[in-house]
Amino acid sequence: MIQCPRGTRDFLPDDMEKRRFYENKLRHTAQTFGFREIETPIFEDAELFILRSGPNVLNELYAFKDKGDRELALRPEMTAPSIRMFVNSMSNDPKPIKIFYFGQCFRYERPQSGRYREFFQFGAELIGSATPETDAEVICLAAAMIKNFGIENYKVHIGHIGVLREAIANAGVPKERTAEVLQKLDKKLYDEARPLLESMNVASNVIDEIFTLTETVGGTEVLSKVPGDAGDYLRQVTDCMHAMGVDNYDIDLGVVRGLDYYTGMVFEVEAPALGAEKQICGGGSYTLSELFGGEKVFSTGFAIGFDRILLAMEKEGHVYEPKGIDAYVLSVTDDMRLKAAEIVSMLRREDISADIDIMGRKMQKAMKYASSVRSKYAVIVGAKEMEEESVTLRDMTSGEQSVVKISELCSKIKG
Ligand code: HAM
Repeated sequence: MIQCPRGTRDFLPDDMEKRRFYENKLRHTAQTFGFREIETPIFEDAELFILRSGPNVLNELYAFKDKGDRELALRPEMTAPSIRMFVNSMSNDPKPIKIFYFGQCFRYERPQSGRYREFFQFGAELIGSATPETDAEVICLAAAMIKNFGIENYKVHIGHIGVLREAIANAGVPKERTAEVLQKLDKKLYDEARPLLESMNVASNVIDEIFTLTETVGGTEVLSKVPGDAGDYLRQVTDCMHAMGVDNYDIDLGVVRGLDYYTGMVFEVEAPALGAEKQICGGGSYTLSELFGGEKVFSTGFAIGFDRILLAMEKEGHVYEPKGIDAYVLSVTDDMRLKAAEIVSMLRREDISADIDIMGRKMQKAMKYASSVRSKYAVIVGAKEMEEESVTLRDMTSGEQSVVKISELCSKIKG
C-alpha cells in the first residue's frame, strides 16, 4: 500500500472541517486588525530563500531543478515570498502595507509530534514602518489570534536581535560568520558556541558576556540592563502593548530566531504543554526588500505554526464537534424517490445543507446513515403524507417526529 511521504499528512473530512473553522477564526482576527490576505506560489526560485534565510533553513530546503533547468525550492516559510511580491507589485502602494497569508511550508526536518516536513503557517507582515507601535501592533495581533483560539497556557517572549548582533560584531566576529554563531545561540548550544567563538579569537570573558546577554530574562525591569537604545525602544513597544491590553509576556534577550533576516525586535510564543516543539509562533522586524531588487524597507511580521496551535488546543482539552448537515432526505417507497429528489433540491436552493439516499436503502439503514453524517433532521417522504403535500420531519437528536407541509419545511429546518 502506498502511504503519504514521511513528514506529511492526509486530512480527512472531520480534520478539514476543524482546520477550516480555525483558519477562518485566524483570518477574522487578522481582518479586525486591518490586514488583508495574499497568496504566493508554493514553489519559488531557490535563490529567494538562499539569499538570507540562514543555515538552519538552508539545510532543510526542498530544492530541485525543473525540466527547464531552473533551480526551484518549495517554500520553507512565507516572509521572503511576501516581500518578493511586495517588491514586484506593491512597492508604490501607500504604507504601511498590512498583509496576511495561510499555506503550507516545507522543511526537510526529522518528523516528530508537532514537527512535520509539510506544515502550515498563518502569518502576517506589516511592511513599510519601523516604529515601536508597528512592533506592538504585530505582537498584539499574534497574541489576539492565540487568545481567540481559546489557548490559555502560553507565553510571549520578546527580545532584540540587534543587541546580540552588535555584541557579536564588537567581539570581532566577521560579518559573514555571524549567522553561524547565532545559529548555536538560537539552539542554546553554548558548548558548541564557545569553541566556535574561540576559533575566531574572541576572548573568554567576552564570550561570557555574550552568553550572559542571552540569559537576560524577566519583566520590563530587565530593560534597564539592555545595552544601547534597544532597552528604551522595547519599553516603548511594551508600553504600547500594555495600552492595547497585552501584558502576558516577558523580556528575553535569548530569543535569537532560526532565520537570518531579523534586525531589531524579535519574539516567540510558547505553549509549554507541547513539550519539545512548544514554539507556536515566531517573528520580528527585518529588512529583505533590498535583497530582492527593491528599496530598503523595514517590516515586522510573524508566523503561527497552525498545526502546533491545534495540538496546543487539544492538549488543553478543547474538542471541536463536527457540524454535520441540516437534513437527510429519504423515501419510504421506491415510487417516492423522485419526490425526494425534488425536495432535496428545494432545500439546497434555500441554502440548507441536505443529502439524499442514492443507494436505495431501506428506511432503517438510511436512518443509520443519516446519523453517521450527523444530520440534524431526517425528512421522510411517504406516499400518504405526500397526498397532503407534506413530509415527516424527524429531529435526529430528540427522536421527535411531526408531519410538516412542504411549503413550511425550509423555515422549520432553519428553526
Ligand atoms: P519560524 O519560527 O521559522 O518563522 O516558523 C514560524 C512557526 O512555524 C514556528 O514558530 C512553528 O510554530 C512553525 N513551524 C516551523 N517549522 C515547523 C515544522 N517543521 N512543523 C510544524 N510547525 C513548524 C518563520 O517562518 C518566519 N517567516 C516568521 C516571520 C514572519 N517572521 C517575520 N515574518
